[in-house]
Amino acid sequence: MEGKKILLGVCGGIAAYKIATLVRLLVKAGAQVKVIMTPAAHQFITPLTLSTLSQQEVLTHFTRSDEKGEWNNHVHLALWADVLLIAPASANTIAKMVQGISDNLLLTVYLSARSKVMLAPAMDLDMWHHSSTQENITKLIAKGHHIIYPTSGELASGLSGAGRMEEPEKLFESIKEYFFADHPLHNVKVLLTAGPTQEPIDPVRFIGNRSSGKMGIAIANAMAAAGATVTLVHGPMDTLTLSKNVAKIPVATADEMYDAVFQHYGSSQITIMAAAVADYKIKQIANSKIKKQTDELTLELVKNKDILKSAGAQKQHGQLLIGFALETDNEQQHALEKLRHKNLDMIILNSLKDQGAGFGYDTNKISIIKANGAAVHHPLMSKVAVANEIVKSIIDLYQKKQ
Ligand code: CTP
Repeated sequence: MEGKKILLGVCGGIAAYKIATLVRLLVKAGAQVKVIMTPAAHQFITPLTLSTLSQQEVLTHFTRSDEKGEWNNHVHLALWADVLLIAPASANTIAKMVQGISDNLLLTVYLSARSKVMLAPAMDLDMWHHSSTQENITKLIAKGHHIIYPTSGELASGLSGAGRMEEPEKLFESIKEYFFADHPLHNVKVLLTAGPTQEPIDPVRFIGNRSSGKMGIAIANAMAAAGATVTLVHGPMDTLTLSKNVAKIPVATADEMYDAVFQHYGSSQITIMAAAVADYKIKQIANSKIKKQTDELTLELVKNKDILKSAGAQKQHGQLLIGFALETDNEQQHALEKLRHKNLDMIILNSLKDQGAGFGYDTNKISIIKANGAAVHHPLMSKVAVANEIVKSIIDLYQKKQ
């Protein structure tokens, strides 16, 4: 939802309290939120609550509350929005929307709006079932507005039936649906590993590697931009400039990465393992700092579990599994062997031979190899461009498998 502009119109109704949660969910997801309240809405939730959560002034009147004589330009507000959601939408406001009455700021903005309009009605059950309300709803649907229908349950009046405004989480999903329904990975769960792992030697030292995690971050962002719900399990990294739609699980060791991955693997349709996992760990981690007493020191190592190989062994029909390979010689052949050995659908071969490719750089040079051995070689590109190529190939494979 990064950068999406959401205008929320709040009418008077007990359900107005739910809007605080909706604003919080939208802001957390990276959306910009502006709130317009009808005068009646002030009796149910304070503008201060909504302005604090939205980090924007809440508007109600045609002129500014600080009495500087400034006008709240309803046309600017209406054109600013990608979506106008009126929630709760009262029977009164719904009727006025149908009639084109513009006796408050919200209605004036509505009449000027070119964006998608959504409504979440909330009222007592008899008002909702009244033929006038139902006729009005039919007319608003005919205008192309999206109705988030009220649910049944206990109403503020004490009656029970249809009229309860949908929960804020559902309102959030409806807005998301509008933006992402046509995205190729909408509703697809993606699991991704990235960055290095660190294997402790003693309380102050560890075995690590030079992976920066930049490639994995770029893939996570490209996947989120394609509409996927992304979970990123990542080792220690300096910078994490991530889309807000990526859930992060920080880990340190390969064992921690293994556990985190298998908490999510079963429910993920696409899994990409870009992490530089340490192949070995210390057999016996020292409880206190190892002192430099001898001229030579031997550290005994044992193999870590291969996370990618375990995932390949558990792969279910419909799941896609993608791995990375870092090779120095016989690159393509070794990568293909790894793909077959670990039961992958695709492997990304990183070439270390080229200047500017690999750990720490902002550029990378890759080949994308499919299970049938077909390989596409890409020139040296920025990691963001490489991520876009990888995601394009994965989407292509995913759509063919559906
Ligand atoms: N990988 C993993 N768990 C490990 C080791 C590797 O999940 N314990 C994953 C990496 O994330 C990568 C792929 O396996 O996607 C390839 O890792 P790489 O180290 O290049 O290959 P290995 O299979 O470990 O073989 P080798 O080191 O002998 O080349």
